[in-house]
Amino acid sequence: MSQQLQYRPIITACINPASFPSVALYVKSGPNFVLYKPAERPLSQQDLQRLEQSRTDTLYIRSEEMGPVAEFLEETITGIMDSESLQPQVKGQILSQVAMNYVMDLFTTPDKLTDVERCRHLVRQLMNFITQHPNAFDSLHAVVEHDYYTFVHSVQVASLSMLAHAEIYSLPLYELEDVGIGGILHDVGMIFIPNTILDKPDALSNFEYTMIKRHAQRGYECLRDLGGFSEISLAAVRFHHERYNGDGYPFSLVGDAIPRTAQITAICDVYSALTSNRPYRSAISNQEALTLMEREGRSIFNPDLLARFKKIVGGSPSEE
Ligand SMILES: [Fe+2]
Repeated sequence: MSQQLQYRPIITACINPASFPSVALYVKSGPNFVLYKPAERPLSQQDLQRLEQSRTDTLYIRSEEMGPVAEFLEETITGIMDSESLQPQVKGQILSQVAMNYVMDLFTTPDKLTDVERCRHLVRQLMNFITQHPNAFDSLHAVVEHDYYTFVHSVQVASLSMLAHAEIYSLPLYELEDVGIGGILHDVGMIFIPNTILDKPDALSNFEYTMIKRHAQRGYECLRDLGGFSEISLAAVRFHHERYNGDGYPFSLVGDAIPRTAQITAICDVYSALTSNRPYRSAISNQEALTLMEREGRSIFNPDLLARFKKIVGGSPSEE
């Protein structure tokens, strides 16, 4: 396990000293994680003030101690989201944190995939948040640095995809939640790809790229075999790398042979990747990403859906 995955980030806004579980907290200093307070010592209000003064908005917890913290946050998230004293930005950060913990849990302990209701509960909170606070949308992916990209990205794709489906199609709430479940799990097949390939800093060989490409079908087969996932969720996982012009994988489907939910998931996936920092390049702005996707992606995405997506995430119509 990489050092990053041995520690889980937790934003300080999540930490209520009165009820937060007793765990050791760490701060990050360069590449190292340094003990900030041991488990036995309770976190005080003064600690939180000091952290605020030093602009430390993220602490870290050893991943093996994350269980009680994740449970505590998931139990309290409904109250946090209903709270009138918290700003929408902070709620978005906390929700993103909780959803990200969930995805990290799945990637490290795939047995937890059987708890579809836990996934649905989180997706429902995301859905409520983005429909009530569309302006706070960016707070959903503002939590941590790129080391945790896969997990933040999954939450972002789920949120974007639900938002786009809600605007473009009038789906019943339950189906929108299925869209979110598909979004949050779209890359779950990556758990079957060896870490030596996923963590490789250099360019991938053809063979390694072929292995990576298997994640869509492997993710689908895993969820199908577990049972409890809808056709909508399964389609997002299986077909999110299909491309409108037939250039995608695993089946090189063309046009509307690709389920519409996967067409939208593909757009959200690429948009989220372009607007996130990666080890090999910096994020580009929302507007730049949309322009690039329109210019380069005209044939690889459904042009109608891309135009609708552009309006939804705040882009103005093309001047071309
Ligand atoms: Fe993928």
